[in-house]
Amino acid sequence: MRAYDLIKQKRDGSVLRSEDVRALVDGYVAGTVADYQMAAFAMAVFFRGMSRDETVGLTQAMLHSGIVVDLSEVPGIKVDKHSTGGVGDKISLPLAPAVAACGVPVPMVSGRGLGHTGGTLDKLESIPGFTVDLPLADYRRLVRELGCCLIGQTKEIAPADKKLYALRDVTATVDCVPLIASSIMSKKLAEGIDALVLDVKVGSGAFMKQRSDAVVLARTMVELGAGMGKRVVARLTSMEQPLGALVGNALEVRESIEVLRGGGPPDIVELTVELGAEMLVLGQVANDLDDGRARITTSLRDGSALERFGRIIEAQRGDRRVLDDPRRLPTAPRTQPVPAPRTGFIGAVDAEAVGVASMLLGGGRQRAADTVDPRVGIEVHKRIGDRVEAGEPLVTLHVGDVGVEAAAARARDAFRIDDARPPAPALFLERLSGGPA
Ligand code: URA
Repeated sequence: MRAYDLIKQKRDGSVLRSEDVRALVDGYVAGTVADYQMAAFAMAVFFRGMSRDETVGLTQAMLHSGIVVDLSEVPGIKVDKHSTGGVGDKISLPLAPAVAACGVPVPMVSGRGLGHTGGTLDKLESIPGFTVDLPLADYRRLVRELGCCLIGQTKEIAPADKKLYALRDVTATVDCVPLIASSIMSKKLAEGIDALVLDVKVGSGAFMKQRSDAVVLARTMVELGAGMGKRVVARLTSMEQPLGALVGNALEVRESIEVLRGGGPPDIVELTVELGAEMLVLGQVANDLDDGRARITTSLRDGSALERFGRIIEAQRGDRRVLDDPRRLPTAPRTQPVPAPRTGFIGAVDAEAVGVASMLLGGGRQRAADTVDPRVGIEVHKRIGDRVEAGEPLVTLHVGDVGVEAAAARARDAFRIDDARPPAPALFLERLSGGPA
C-alpha cells in the first residue's frame, strides 16, 4: 500500500493493520517515505489516536528498525528506569549507581533535554570528560563489569524512533499518548532489559498535565512491555513543581552528588529510594518494597552508591574528582536573585515555566540541534506551601551569556502567591504493574 493511502486512512479514522504500520516505518527509515509524509501521518495519529494493536505494531516496527541488544552474558535480571520527563528530574544520576551497588544490573539508554525538560545525557556531559557516546561493545562490557552504563541512543538502537522523534519535535506532535508510549518503549526494549520501572510524571512540568492522561500513558506502556514478556511497574509521580532545589545541568549533578553522599532534598531522596526499591524487587534482590527501600537507603548512606558512581564516571572517561570537589563542575560566572512581588504563601508553581527559564539561560534546547550551556540554571528557594516575604528571592538564576531578563520574568511569573497556605502536593500518586509473574 502507498504511504499516501495509509496517511489518508489514518486521517479518516481507520485502524491500520500492523504490517502497514511496519511498512510505513521501514519506508521512513529507508528514505522511501518522505519526512513530510511521516509528519502528516504523525499529525493524523495525534488527532485520531491509535488502537492497542496499532500501538503495538508501531512499537515493534521501531524496536526492530535497529538491533535489540543481547545482555544475556550479564548475570542477573537487568532493570532500567525511565522518566517521561520533567524539571529538575535528576533521579537517574543517584538511582542507577545505587541500584547497581545493590546488585541489580542497570543498562541505561537515556535522552537529551528538549524544550522545558532536562535530559540525563546533558547532565552527565557537564562532568568534565564524561562521554555518553560509547560503542555497544563497551556498553555491554560496562554493564557486565560495573553493573551499569549510561549512554545515549546509538545509531543501532531504534533508529526509526530517533528519526521520528526529531520530526515530531518540529511538527507539534510530541504530546500524543501512542507516539510517546511507542517511542519510549521501543528504545527501552532495545537496550537489553528484563524489567522496567517507569516514572510517569503528572502536572505543570510534565508532558501530561492531567492525571487521567498520565494513567492512560502509563497503562499503555505497561501493556506494551508486558506484551513483550517484560515485567513493568509504572509509578505516577507529581511534577507540580521542580524536583529538588536545582535545575540546570551541572547544578543537577551537584545535587545528585549530595544525594549520593547521604544528603540532598527530601523529594529527590524519596523518589530515588522508592524507584530504587521497585527496581530491586523486579531484579529479585529485595524481598519486598520495604526491604528494597532499606537497601537503597543504606547504599546512599554507606558510600557504596557514591563509589559506584565514581567508577562509572571513570569508565566513561569523566573526571571522578567532581565527587569530592563539586567546584570542578562548570560554574556560572554570576548569579541573580528573582524577588517575590508580594508576601504570602506559594500556592502553585508552573514547573514548565521554570524549565523554560532555565532553557532561556542556555541550559536547554529549543531545537534538537542546539547546544546547551552546562553552567547555567535555576536555584529554587520556595516550594508549594512555603511562606514568602515581599522581596525575598523566589529563585536565583545562575547566569551565563544569554537570556537573563526573559528568564527572570518567566521565573517570577511561575510562582502564584496566595494569602492562605495550600496543602503540599503528594509526590506519589498511583502505581500500575504488568508482565509475567
Ligand atoms: N521521551 C521519548 O523518548 N519519546 C517521547 O515521545 C517523549 C518523551
